[in-house]
Amino acid sequence: MTLRYKYLPPHPQTPTQTMSHYFYNPATGHGLPHDPFKAIVAPRLIGWISSRATDGTLNLAPYSFFGAFASFPPIIGFCSEGRKDSIANIEATGEFVWNLSSKPLAEQMNRSSAPVPSHVDEFELAGLTPAPGRNVAVPHVAESPAALECKLLQVVRLHTLDGKPMDNYLSLGQVVGVHINEAYLKDGLFDTHAAQPIMRAGYRADYAGIGEMFQMFRPSA
Ligand SMILES: Cc1cc2nc3c(=O)[nH]c(=O)nc-3n(C[C@H](O)[C@H](O)[C@H](O)COP(=O)(O)O)c2cc1C
Repeated sequence: MTLRYKYLPPHPQTPTQTMSHYFYNPATGHGLPHDPFKAIVAPRLIGWISSRATDGTLNLAPYSFFGAFASFPPIIGFCSEGRKDSIANIEATGEFVWNLSSKPLAEQMNRSSAPVPSHVDEFELAGLTPAPGRNVAVPHVAESPAALECKLLQVVRLHTLDGKPMDNYLSLGQVVGVHINEAYLKDGLFDTHAAQPIMRAGYRADYAGIGEMFQMFRPSA
């Protein structure tokens, strides 16, 4: 059931301005033309994941349920809705690579999301060059500004509040090798803006590019 209510700012000094908030319970429906969840949790950096099947077939696919979770050692993860080829390969080999999907590579990234059978080489399908791994047997996208070689830590099957197993699999990997295209290294710093990462945003076909960057330092104690 959807519900509209008026939100009153809790602080007594706040002017008596009222804000209209829309609230819904996901279990009972959003009541909107389209589910807003992925438009709210946006933009999301894309986990462009390469993996290798046990028969050697190269796999490449974008996953926007993606994030970095620890800095030392660096740990990243992505989540598959369904047991897709990437998860099956990673479970079998214990390795994967994250590739930075940049604006110039947007079309290729999109092509690599095609629902093709597991025997199809998705580097070839997307017209990309596999560059050999250093610490893993999985190649990375040579055209990409940066890539992170990972060894699998665990595949976590997600469960709902009532303990029901979902068909969603979170793959967490420790970064064991980092590739940086030197064109994006400026005075020893990785130039995120120049790399033009693309992010998933909003509804079915929406993406975001990188806009203004700004600096803000954390407060000291
Ligand atoms: C930008 C983008 C982001 C995506 N994010 C996800 C995701 O987070 N989880 C998921 O299961 N599928 C996601 N998909 C769909 C997969 O890329 C698609 O199902 C793909 O065929 C899976 O490939 P695989 O079977 O080779 O692993 C996304 C597709 C695109 C284009």
